[in-house]
Amino acid sequence: MRLLTFFLLIGFISQIAVAEVDINRDACIQCHVEIDDDLDNPVMTNYENDIHYEKGLSCSDCHGGNPEGWDDEDAAMYDNDSFIEDMSKMDEVNMCGKCHADPTYMRQYAASVKTDQLAQYWTSQHGIKLQEGIDNVASCTSCHNVHGIFPVNDPRSTVYDLNIPETCSKCHSDADIMKDSGYPTDQFDDFKISVHGIALLENQDIGSPACNDCHGNHGASPPDVGHISDICGTCHVNNKELFQSSHLKDAFIKEGIAQCEGCHNNHAVEKTTDEYLNWENNSVCIVCHENDDKGSKAVIMADSFYEIIMNLKSGIHMADSLLNDAEQKGMEVSDYDYNLEEAHRTLIQTRTAIHSFNLESVIEVATPGMKAIEASLTGANKVLNDWIFRRKGLFVFSLIISFVALILYIKIRDMEKPD
Ligand code: HEC
Ligand code: HEC
Ligand code: HEC
Ligand code: HEC
Ligand code: HEC
Ligand code: HEC
Ligand code: HEC
Ligand code: HEC
Ligand code: HEC
Repeated sequence: MRLLTFFLLIGFISQIAVAEVDINRDACIQCHVEIDDDLDNPVMTNYENDIHYEKGLSCSDCHGGNPEGWDDEDAAMYDNDSFIEDMSKMDEVNMCGKCHADPTYMRQYAASVKTDQLAQYWTSQHGIKLQEGIDNVASCTSCHNVHGIFPVNDPRSTVYDLNIPETCSKCHSDADIMKDSGYPTDQFDDFKISVHGIALLENQDIGSPACNDCHGNHGASPPDVGHISDICGTCHVNNKELFQSSHLKDAFIKEGIAQCEGCHNNHAVEKTTDEYLNWENNSVCIVCHENDDKGSKAVIMADSFYEIIMNLKSGIHMADSLLNDAEQKGMEVSDYDYNLEEAHRTLIQTRTAIHSFNLESVIEVATPGMKAIEASLTGANKVLNDWIFRRKGLFVFSLIISFVALILYIKIRDMEKPD
């Protein structure tokens, strides 16, 4: 019985092993499963999970050759002009593009699939340089892998959101590869510690941008300085709209300063604080306005924004502690919590509103918050006064009670006294 189980188990395990790829699909697979270990770079390791294998395609769909050449390798590979020997990067992108740029072909497999990858690729710095004969740029397989290509939303894919920074930095953090281009190699190091990198890589928040969200998937090129706010603005819509309609936008373009990047950096975007506006301490404005005097428009603007935000913050803090105090005394304060929430919302909106770089519109956004703070302060005071009044009332009431009790006591004692 035990022996039987043993054989069943062995049978089961070998079943899994052969179930990985169907060696009867064609001659290429059958022979290559056998010889894989002898190759310098084995190709079958991930092949059973490759999207192309899953869709019924095979080696010869990419490499050419005759998949019916069962007799020997010559019949399969070399007895046929279509076989691409020693595939160069140029051969490769054209080969991948043969199917992926053909809408009629691709629609057989997926109705809404995109077919612009190759066209976009030729517009990217990678594609442009490849055409100039520079070979260390990214080709399709540098980003997508080869013989283990997964759908892009599969966590195993090299271009799955969380894996992209690693994939790009394979080259972009490698000084040898980047040497000739003269580009820095600090993008990934900066990105890792940025607010975006932490959100993406540590908190796995795929709403946070990876390299491709700012550089494009296939058109990889840096956004030019005049259009960076459009890129950041795909997510930070309000900041973009305010900044683009501000007078600073034109000033930045005139001076060739990168829009959002000028104050926030590109790869090392940090979490912001209100101190960004504090001219005396860590203001981001100083980077460009270092020599401005106290009376300059920039200093006045930064100081005013800072003051407005500090007023909102301290107002909220004061109202909050008064309401807390009242609540701990057992008073009903929920009516005023709503005002406080509104003030909080306004504070957040005001931090965004500063991107208009227009004092009047910032005041306009902040005003409802100041009113809400005023309402909760008045409310909190009223509730606390009520409490004091009730305490006073309670004191008088207990005086009366004690007095009545005393009278009663005297009465009772009088009644108990024998005549
Ligand atoms: C009978 C065995 C056999 C068959 C069938 C076979 N191959 Fe090969 N293949 C080999 C061997 C052995 C090598 C490595 C030695 C060499 O380069 O000839 C190889 C190498 C390759 C290479 C690397 C060569 C290069 O240019 O770098 C590719 C690509 C390849 N095979 C694809 C295919 C395709 C596609 C098919 C089916 C059309 C196929 N093979 C069928 C045995 C086979
Ligand atoms: C989606 C297209 C695609 C499919 C399908 C595919 N290959 Fe390849 N293969 C490539 C590309 C592109 C390269 C060259 C890129 C590289 O060297 O990294 C390559 C390289 C190779 C090499 C050379 C590896 C080396 O490093 O020398 C071999 C061998 C090979 N393929 C065999 C196969 C076999 C066998 C199959 C089927 C089981 C297969 N390929 C299926 C695209 C494909
Ligand atoms: C610089 C890296 C890079 C290169 C080079 C590259 N890709 Fe992509 N590819 C990506 C990224 C990133 C995505 C999108 C991932 C996502 O949507 O989250 C993608 C997505 C895709 C998709 C899914 C459909 C789509 O367009 O979103 C296909 C198909 C594809 N690439 C094929 C190709 C082909 C073919 C080539 C070569 C002509 C190529 N890629 C070159 C990085 C690259
Ligand atoms: C013979 C045609 C053909 C060739 C050549 C080809 N592909 Fe594909 N590829 C397909 C088909 C078909 C699919 C499945 C489409 C689908 O279902 O979305 C696919 C899917 C993909 C996907 C997943 C897209 C997604 O929906 O997430 C990527 C990435 C991809 N291919 C990259 C490549 C790369 C890189 C090469 C070159 C090394 C290549 N392909 C060569 C036909 C091809
Ligand atoms: C195989 C290596 C490799 C990979 C992988 C790679 N790149 Fe590149 N990339 C390069 C090289 C090399 C250059 C410089 C080409 C030149 O100008 O000489 C470059 C250039 C660029 C540029 C142009 C910079 C400029 O100022 O013109 C951008 C942007 C870029 N890559 C983004 C990316 C992104 C985003 C990814 C990942 C999705 C990626 N790259 C993946 C090698 C790579
Ligand atoms: C939040 C958006 C954003 C993200 C995420 C991002 N970049 Fe950039 N990147 C930019 C901007 C903006 C520029 C600068 C354009 C300018 O000033 O001309 C730039 C410039 C570059 C350049 C040109 C050389 C340089 O450093 O100035 C390369 C290469 C590059 N990025 C690669 C990457 C890689 C690799 C990643 C992922 C690790 C990445 N970027 C992530 C926005 C981004
Ligand atoms: C794909 C969407 C996306 C893009 C593109 C993007 N961001 Fe972000 N950004 C986010 C998300 C999500 C967060 C919040 C991260 C977190 O959870 O802390 C964030 C956070 C920030 C913060 C910190 C906010 C705070 O509360 O202090 C700043 C500043 C910022 N981004 C600026 C930029 C700039 C500048 C660019 C363009 C160079 C840019 N972002 C591009 C999504 C994006
Ligand atoms: C990346 C550089 C840069 C940063 C950082 C910067 N500015 Fe400016 N700013 C400029 C340029 C360039 C001009 C137009 C030239 C000039 O008038 O000095 C300008 C002009 C101004 C003006 C109009 C000045 C006038 O005399 O009409 C104001 C107001 C201003 N900035 C406010 C700010 C504030 C507030 C901050 C910080 C939150 C800030 N700027 C940060 C580059 C910058
Ligand atoms: C002239 C400098 C300057 C420019 C240009 C600038 N910002 Fe800001 N940004 C700031 C300052 C200062 C703060 C901090 C405000 C605070 O917290 O009190 C800030 C805060 C932020 C925040 C966090 C607060 C919020 O709104 O959620 C985000 C996100 C942001 N900026 C995105 C952007 C984007 C996107 C652009 C380009 C469209 C941009 N910024 C352009 C100075 C700037």
